[in-house]
Amino acid sequence: MGYKVAVVGATGNVGREMLDILAERGFPVSEVVPLASSRSLGTEVSFGDKTLKTKVLDNYDFSDVDICLMSAGGDVSKAWSPKIAAQGCVVIDNSSAWRYDAEVPLIVPEVNADAIVGFTKKNIIANPNCSTAQLVVALKPLHDEYQIKRVVVSTYQSVSGAGKEGMDELFEQTRAVFVTDPVEPKKFPKRIAFNLIPHIDVFMEDGFTKEEWKMMAETKKILDPKIKLTATCVRVPVFISHSESVNVEFAKPVTADEARDILREAPGVLVIDKHEPGGYITPHEAAGEDATYISRIREDNTVENGLAFWCVSDNLRKGAALNAVQIAEVLVNRKLIKPKAEKAA
Ligand SMILES: NC(=O)c1ccc[n+]([C@@H]2O[C@H](COP(=O)([O-])OP(=O)(O)OC[C@H]3O[C@@H](n4cnc5c(N)ncnc54)[C@H](OP(=O)(O)O)[C@@H]3O)[C@@H](O)[C@H]2O)c1
Repeated sequence: MGYKVAVVGATGNVGREMLDILAERGFPVSEVVPLASSRSLGTEVSFGDKTLKTKVLDNYDFSDVDICLMSAGGDVSKAWSPKIAAQGCVVIDNSSAWRYDAEVPLIVPEVNADAIVGFTKKNIIANPNCSTAQLVVALKPLHDEYQIKRVVVSTYQSVSGAGKEGMDELFEQTRAVFVTDPVEPKKFPKRIAFNLIPHIDVFMEDGFTKEEWKMMAETKKILDPKIKLTATCVRVPVFISHSESVNVEFAKPVTADEARDILREAPGVLVIDKHEPGGYITPHEAAGEDATYISRIREDNTVENGLAFWCVSDNLRKGAALNAVQIAEVLVNRKLIKPKAEKAA
């Protein structure tokens, strides 16, 4: 017997990817229900070789649903997740609404799967921000071996991180530049085509942006509160996959060769690191893939025990949909939930 799974935000970038990944990985479903806003009533979405018609979230009855993959933004999640959870359905949320709540586990299965046990307090599990997910997958095996003291990360984040409107804006502006039409920023604060923008999410009082703050706070919650991290988050004109330039300072001495060997064995990581033209990964190549790719591993001799590397992953997959499905797999594989239909039988 399988699980009844609802996907909220099924017509969005992440939601569609969730449906694909559930099918690709053969998640044990009895039924999948795609949900979105009333704008999308009846919109067809693919689930494996099936076509499903989208239903409306408002007033949907979750009492026989086992797992809800929630991917419709923070406001929708704040309003709906507690109501859905109260109906005995475990919510795995992709927004930032619940990530910093002490009663909600924030999970990247390769890093802190054991922290999932606390999920019953609210029946909600949070998925981290896309840039944090790939970063902690890369940092965890190095932290276990050498103990991280400080991380400096600069991100190069694709427009799909801003939803389908972000992708449309890059496409539209690129077309406009070629045909010499006026270029109008709508979703992003400045032109994104043939440009980049050092500003993602709102500004905080200290001058960092919320996206940068999220990386700091989430790395501490998932990996280790003692880790110091500073980030600069930049939106770049790439459709899919986030890239990161990472500098790490460890407590113990590290060599690039050792770090490469450790990362080669790490779950979820693929090392592509040849010191020759093209011997590294780019966002275009990582799109549609599950791995967190690491390239350009080298010792950083400007600090004691320093290491630098380049990290790329598909933000819609490991940064969102894949991680959410992996969390659902942890629930199932560890027998933390049973299908409601089985309990009733
Ligand atoms: N993109 C990423 O890299 C990424 C990574 C991590 C987390 N996330 C998070 O994932 C969520 C979705 O992102 P996305 O990129 O998929 O955005 P998106 O492409 O803009 O899609 C948004 C989805 O939410 C639905 N929605 C909006 N308002 C709704 C409402 N009132 N009731 C029900 N459904 C509603 C939309 O339905 P309609 O089509 O009917 O409007 C659509 O299906 C966000 O919380 C985002 O922060 C995204």
